[in-house]
Amino acid sequence: MVNTKVTLCGIPLDNPVIPASGTFGYGAEFAALYDINCLGTFSFKGTTRAPRFGNPTPRIAECTDGMLNSVGLQNPGVEAVLADILPQMATYFRKPVMANVSGFSVGEYAETCAMLDASPQIGWLEVNISCPNVHGGGMSFGTDPAMAAEVTRRVKAVTTKPVLMKLSPNVTNIVEIAKACEDAGADGLSLINTIQGMRIDLRRRKPVLANTFGGLSGPAILPVALRMVYQVYEAVKIPIVGMGGVSTAEDVVEMMLAGAAAVQIGAVNLVNPFAGRDIVNDLPAVMEKYGIQNLSDCIGGAH
Ligand SMILES: Cc1cc2nc3c(=O)[nH]c(=O)nc-3n(C[C@H](O)[C@H](O)[C@H](O)COP(=O)(O)O)c2cc1C
Repeated sequence: MVNTKVTLCGIPLDNPVIPASGTFGYGAEFAALYDINCLGTFSFKGTTRAPRFGNPTPRIAECTDGMLNSVGLQNPGVEAVLADILPQMATYFRKPVMANVSGFSVGEYAETCAMLDASPQIGWLEVNISCPNVHGGGMSFGTDPAMAAEVTRRVKAVTTKPVLMKLSPNVTNIVEIAKACEDAGADGLSLINTIQGMRIDLRRRKPVLANTFGGLSGPAILPVALRMVYQVYEAVKIPIVGMGGVSTAEDVVEMMLAGAAAVQIGAVNLVNPFAGRDIVNDLPAVMEKYGIQNLSDCIGGAH
């Protein structure tokens, strides 16, 4: 019997498979399809202090081997998440959940994280300083090491749970940002968010997305994500949650060999809503095929 268990910032996971923020809502729609307790955990939709309607439509565009999105952090706001969604979630998900948080100021990140930190259902705070689809927020914090460090420090000062800083690939040197977050006290890092891109409608001769630009995700970005996880693993001591184009159990192992302690799956949930369950089920056979007894032994194995 192979062992799929891993540990993320001191919290044990039955397996490293974690649906990524924005592709799994707050879990309810997927829990209606299968028992989502088979997952390691999941990262819920990027939550902000106030409710957000998101960007104008169209906000999704398909691409070869991937998709663009410019959802713009549509969410009901942290108060509704605490009052309504988390109590409901307790009826279908029994494990600690990962809370994904976005903000438009350092103070807003800290306030939202402090509110979520108080919920016993939340295991980790994943702080998104990398959303490419929102003007004036998100990504601007993730592209400057000093700002990334400031968000990390302010969130750490008001929380008790492990804080994972979610990094943007839309930078020249992701290692610099990763180290700034580690030095500022981050407990872990999540990478990567989507890569900024666009498509143009030939008939209208206009951008397909109402927001012009969006974030590219899906299999097309796996090599970029692997490269960044590999680079960051060489530079930091804190655990990395790897993501970007992971669609199969083999991809999970590859991401772990690059240095990920746990692995998120995003766009694939939108292609196959059972992807999380399928990947969890496929992992033992893939481990046997490659002679892996304990999955945690793979972490950073390619270095
Ligand atoms: C439709 C959609 C919405 C997303 N929303 C969020 C979000 O709210 N917060 C966040 O940190 N990342 C968000 N992401 C990024 C994913 O969590 C993930 O980092 C990215 O898609 C790369 O993984 P993938 O290639 O497996 O999709 C979103 C991605 C998609 C496709």
